[in-house]
Amino acid sequence: MSVQEYLEKHLLSRRIEEAVNAAVRAKAPDPVLFIAGHMRRAAPAVITRVRARQILDGHGAPAVEVELHTNKAVHRASAAGAGALEGAAADAAGGSERRKILARAVADAVRVINDKVSEALVGMDPQQQAQIDQAIMDLDKARHKAELGANAMLAVSIAACKAGAAEKEVPLYKHIADLVGKSATTLPVPAITVINGGKHAGNALPIQEIMILPVGAKNFEEAMQMGSETYHHLKDIILEKCGSDSCNIGDHGGFAPNISSISEGLDLVVAAIERAGYNGRIKLAIDVAATDFCVGKKYDLEFKSTKKSGQNFKTADDMIVIYSQLCSEYPLVSIEQPFDKDDWEHSKKLTTLDLCQVAGDDLLMSDPERIKRAVSEYTCNALVLKANQVGTVTEAIEVVKQAKDAHWGVVVSHRSGDTEDSFIADLAVGAAAGQIKTGAPCRGECLTKYNQLLRIEEELGSEGVYAGENWRTVSTS
Ligand code: PGA
Repeated sequence: MSVQEYLEKHLLSRRIEEAVNAAVRAKAPDPVLFIAGHMRRAAPAVITRVRARQILDGHGAPAVEVELHTNKAVHRASAAGAGALEGAAADAAGGSERRKILARAVADAVRVINDKVSEALVGMDPQQQAQIDQAIMDLDKARHKAELGANAMLAVSIAACKAGAAEKEVPLYKHIADLVGKSATTLPVPAITVINGGKHAGNALPIQEIMILPVGAKNFEEAMQMGSETYHHLKDIILEKCGSDSCNIGDHGGFAPNISSISEGLDLVVAAIERAGYNGRIKLAIDVAATDFCVGKKYDLEFKSTKKSGQNFKTADDMIVIYSQLCSEYPLVSIEQPFDKDDWEHSKKLTTLDLCQVAGDDLLMSDPERIKRAVSEYTCNALVLKANQVGTVTEAIEVVKQAKDAHWGVVVSHRSGDTEDSFIADLAVGAAAGQIKTGAPCRGECLTKYNQLLRIEEELGSEGVYAGENWRTVSTS
C-alpha cells in the first residue's frame, strides 16, 4: 500500500486535525508531545514479533526471558524453571548435570518461541489475552505442556498481558482485574518466609518453611514493616541462641538455624514477634512440603539426619496429632502440603478437623482436574497457585476462579529460585487472591514482588484495601 493509500484508508488528515483540536482543548503544556501521544493511540497495537533468550534465575539456573514487540513498544517477561519433562529429569539429577539439562530445555524453548510462537502471534491484538493464550496452547498439545514447557508459555503469556495493559493505558493489575471481571483494590496479606528447612536448607528441620502473616496490619506497607522488623529481631534471637553460623539463609531467604523440630522453629518466631511488639497481630503459617520426606506411607521427620533416633518416623495419623497440637499451642493459621502429594485421604481428614487453612501445593499442582477432585472431596481448603505450573495467564485466572467458587483461600506463590519478574504481585491484586507467598524480605527475586505491591498500594491510594483479617475470604465479585 502506498503512503497516500494508507493516509486515505486511515483517515489520517482527520485524525491529525482531531489531535490538534484536542491539544487546544486540553491547553496542553507541550502540544507536540500531546499530539504525538494522541496519534500514537490512534494506531491500534499489534504484535510484530516475539523474541526469547536464556537468562539466569535466582538459583543461577537457566530460565526463559521473552520480549514481545508490538508496533508501539517492547514488553519483557520471564518465568522460572525448565520444561516439564526436562524439569523432572533435572530434579532427579544434581549439580552441573542438572544445569546442563535445564540449559538444553531452555535452549529448546527459546528456539520454539522465536520460530513457532512468534509466527503464531504476529498480527494479534495484545489486549485479546484469551485468544493469545489459546494460540500459545494450540502450539503445545503435549500432556502437561511438555513440548514447549509451561514456564516458557507463561513468559510469553505474561509479556502479552503487559502489552495489553500498556495498550489500554492501565496498570497491569487493573488489566488483570478486567480479565477476571472484577475491580482491583485488594492488597494481599504477605506470607513472609522467616525460617527455611526441608530441601530448602542444610539444617535438620524437616519442614520447608515457617512464615509470618501480618494480618493485623492496617495496610500492606505496615504489613511489610512488621514483617521485616520481626525478621530482623529473629536474626538477633537466633544469633543469641544458636550462634552466628545459624544466621545463614536458605532458599527463600529465611534463616536456617540448626534446629530439628517444628516447635523449636515456631518458638524462635514467636519470641521474635513478641520482641517486635506485634503479639496478636502476626499469625503463623508453615509449608511442610511433606512429599519430600514421605517414605512409603510414613513421614521421616529426620530425613536429613545421618544419625536417626528412630523416634521420628511418623504415620499420617501421627502427623495429624502433631498438627493439631501445633494449632492449639501456637497462632498457626495455615498449613501447606501437610502430607504426600497423593495422600488425599489424610489431607481430607486434617481439613475436616477445621483447625486452620490447609493449602494444596503438590497435591493440586495448580491443575484444574486435581482442584476439581479436591473441591468435591474437601481434600483441602486453599489453592497454592504457581502460575508456571499452569502455563498461561488465562488458565491461571481460571484456576483462581475455581478455587474462589469453592470458597477456598488462594495463595499466589513464587517458585524457589524465581526470576526477578514481579508479575505475581499484579496477579495477586488483579485476581483478589487475598494471600501472596514470595519468600523473605531479603533476596532480590523475593523483594521485587513485595516492592511492586508497595507501589500498587501507593497508586491505589484510598481505594486500596488490605485483605488483613479477611485473607482467606476475599471475594472476586
Ligand atoms: P518450589 O516451591 O520449590 O516448588 O518452587 C516453592 C514453595 O512452595 O514455596
